[in-house]
Amino acid sequence: MEFTILIFDDEKLVCDSIKRSLSDKETQILTAQDIDSTRKILRSEPIDLILLDYKLGAIDGISVLKEIKEYYPSILVIMLTAYGTIDLAVEAMKNGAFDFIQKEEDTIVLKHIVSKALDNLRLKKEVEKLKSENRADRKIPPVISFSNKMNKAMKLAEQYSAADSNVLLTGETGTGKNLIARQIHSQSSRFNNIFLAINCTAIPGDLMESELFGYEPGAFTGARQKGKSGLIEEAHNGTLVLDEIGDMDIGLQTKFLHFIENGEFYRIGGTRTRQVNVRFIATTNADLPKLVSEKKFRSDLFYRLNVAHIEIPPLRMRKEDIIPLAKIFIEEFNLRFKKSISKISDELENFLLNNEWTGNVRELKNHIERCVLLTRGDTLEIDDTLLLNKAQIKSLTKIGNSTFTLQLDPQENTNLLNEAKISLIDQALELTNHNKTKAAQMLGIPRTSLNYYILQKAKDKPHD
Ligand SMILES: Nc1ncnc2c1ncn2[C@@H]1O[C@H](COP(=O)(O)OP(=O)(O)OP(=O)(O)O)[C@@H](O)[C@H]1O
Ligand SMILES: [Mg+2]
Repeated sequence: MEFTILIFDDEKLVCDSIKRSLSDKETQILTAQDIDSTRKILRSEPIDLILLDYKLGAIDGISVLKEIKEYYPSILVIMLTAYGTIDLAVEAMKNGAFDFIQKEEDTIVLKHIVSKALDNLRLKKEVEKLKSENRADRKIPPVISFSNKMNKAMKLAEQYSAADSNVLLTGETGTGKNLIARQIHSQSSRFNNIFLAINCTAIPGDLMESELFGYEPGAFTGARQKGKSGLIEEAHNGTLVLDEIGDMDIGLQTKFLHFIENGEFYRIGGTRTRQVNVRFIATTNADLPKLVSEKKFRSDLFYRLNVAHIEIPPLRMRKEDIIPLAKIFIEEFNLRFKKSISKISDELENFLLNNEWTGNVRELKNHIERCVLLTRGDTLEIDDTLLLNKAQIKSLTKIGNSTFTLQLDPQENTNLLNEAKISLIDQALELTNHNKTKAAQMLGIPRTSLNYYILQKAKDKPHD
């Protein structure tokens, strides 16, 4: 059976007659004459379409329509009205009915309207199927993890995925919190449902509340006439990431805590509680205990979130991950920029392993992107302009048996590259007792170039 239709009319004769005119092989038709049996059927059968009588003895059809639309919004409803009740039919449409049929109408009209509704449902089902195929097909980028510290974090992530608990992900910027949140979602039973993320920093407090919880018609000036569902409702059965939870407005934290404790919430301006099934993943690079002590973050919300907590270590604390990550990124950028880099120069590897990486994996990725762009051969070379763009650079570079020190203090109007060159040349000359041939060899440049630099330096020197 492709579809299931429910006819709800308090007169059995009407139910039977409609059932007879609609019955075919594709459709299962159920009937109900009172609200209790209707509710029971709705709870136990997946209904696609309801034909709903407008006059149901003591109950009013519109209130039943509202109830259906509230709890089963995907079910289409066609109202059955009497002749001369066009106003009522219009009201029904306003409340979400798909269409209406006047009872005395010919069965051809009835069949036509029902088949139109079923076509609509067929299309919706097709779109849903396409969407879910797309979701299942969508490749989630792998989380690279070679170090013990990261392996432990990923093991925890796997356990929390299966437990379907809310998760708190902390770690410095660029450590991979969002990537891991996506991984948790894709490893969980919710993998084929929606995955949404909202950044608490980017949206001001009151707007954030309506984004999260939605609002009822007329809840505030400027509210849409029909009201609006919030992200919490949209993420039903899926995962909602709250990025930078530390920046959530303290008033909103109270409302949010109530929701995660009770699983229910009110839309803004609403009087009726709503229930949804959402898994939350909160991320932050802030120090939450510190925010708690400063009374900027509710301690009860912190303890609640802290139950399933994963701390993603900074990249400099898990050096074993650096080269594997670099390799994955080289592969990615080789494809993007049509390059075929297969090796990393020793100098670059040395730099990658010893850099601070305050921007963590994101910074590493950006660095590799730039190096790939600039490299011509098959070996990825160090990008010295980037090296010199750092705020305060101190680097030790070994050439042969000699160690060079670079200490640069970038100021406006200084040419760092030049400063670095001069410093290296000076040191090479010093180390070789001013033997230009040896110094040039040490620096890996032709002697003529060294002569040129020495000449330039002499010219640049201020005259007394
Ligand atoms: N372990 C990893 N394996 C592969 N790629 C990673 C890994 N960790 C991070 N990345 C990549 O590094 C970049 C930054 O990661 P992400 O955005 O998840 O960091 P974040 O911790 O959420 O940062 P922020 O705190 O600034 O929001 C992304 O391109 C991500 O794909
Ligand atoms: Mg992030």
